[in-house]
Amino acid sequence: MSETKESFQEIIEGDTKLLVPKKSLTEKVPPIKPAFFNPKAKTNRDFSIIAYAAFLKKFEGPKIFLESLSGVGARGLRVANELEIEEMKINDLNPTALEIAKKSSILNNLNNIKFSEKEACVFLNEHSRKGNRGSIVDIDPFGSPAAFFDCGVRATMHGGILSTAATDLQVLNGLFQGACKRKYGGTPIRVEYGNEMAIRLILGCLRSVAARLGVTMIPMFVESEMHYYRTYTRILNRTDQEENIGYVLHCKNCGHRKTVVEQQQECDLCKSKNSIAGPLWIGKIFDKEFVKNMIEESSKLKIQKSCEKTIHKCLEETEMPGFYFTLDEIAKKIKTSPPKLEKIISNLKENGFTSSVTSFNPTGFRTNANINEIIKIFNSTSETHTNTV
Ligand SMILES: C[S@@+](CC[C@H](N)C(=O)[O-])C[C@H]1O[C@@H](n2cnc3c(N)ncnc32)[C@H](O)[C@@H]1O
Ligand SMILES: [Zn+2]
Repeated sequence: MSETKESFQEIIEGDTKLLVPKKSLTEKVPPIKPAFFNPKAKTNRDFSIIAYAAFLKKFEGPKIFLESLSGVGARGLRVANELEIEEMKINDLNPTALEIAKKSSILNNLNNIKFSEKEACVFLNEHSRKGNRGSIVDIDPFGSPAAFFDCGVRATMHGGILSTAATDLQVLNGLFQGACKRKYGGTPIRVEYGNEMAIRLILGCLRSVAARLGVTMIPMFVESEMHYYRTYTRILNRTDQEENIGYVLHCKNCGHRKTVVEQQQECDLCKSKNSIAGPLWIGKIFDKEFVKNMIEESSKLKIQKSCEKTIHKCLEETEMPGFYFTLDEIAKKIKTSPPKLEKIISNLKENGFTSSVTSFNPTGFRTNANINEIIKIFNSTSETHTNTV
């Protein structure tokens, strides 16, 4: 290793010993050199461990993990050490990152990991032939993962999981609409539920790549935090017949939103001009059984408790409509203070609507009620609140 020993430090994440650059633990933005490691991404690695555990429990084929952009190998090493896997391949362009990953594998007595120092697409294309593909393929680059979608889909076996991470949040949240259209093939708009829109833009792009390659991709689990969006999709070697790509129409005048397959210029409720985002994924973003399996597996794993809480929220929202509302958004509209989330959800249900929390936002809720119906419920909730105070 060209770097001095003093540059690295041993830490434990989950149940795995990891050698990481010392500076990555002290600097605000983890440096790319000598190798990249982001301690704050522990939460998303915990979610990965849970999602892969849920997948591996049910998957009957060969258990092969391909980590195409590994950094110091934090994710792959944790998978090899904390889960039951038959073959693990760790790839990165940075030789120093790989050397550190190798040393960490020795610290954990993991002796059958294969290391590879290739460009990610070259690595993935080496695994694109039938019989040579991965059952779990991870794509975790700096910025947008879209450039790796083709080779990632090709390298995932029938029934396998392709996981992707995006950190180009400003692009996906609508700050650079042109860049998003170029990279993901869909246009975002700036809305309260921007993180869900971003995830659906990523899924929309993945779906169009999968469809072009003649395979189906089914979202199993998605996760968003301050710094990244992650998707977990199952790849099936058969043509996708479902109509899961469309648009979200958002009326900035009254706040009404709906998903459609064909664009519509006028708001259904107030007849103002809609803002239109897409094309994007309008189908389900969680698979109920998969999420249930994640809950079951999480109790057996060394992960932070907050992940379990989030997954329980995901379970509640699996069958709910897309594009959530927030308490603040409605309260601001009708100039009142936001009521309690549980109260609004129970009032919506009592009035015959469906409603749930959402993992995307602590004050978010999903419902099939439209904005006018929600406002009515808010008004009646704050009246009861005032009468009882
Ligand atoms: C965000 S980091 C990966 C973090 C890691 N997966 C984790 O969970 O800690 C991105 C990594 O991709 C590597 N990289 C960037 N472009 C690459 C490419 N085209 N092919 C292979 N590796 C690449 C970088 O060296 C860096 O280590
Ligand atoms: Zn409207």
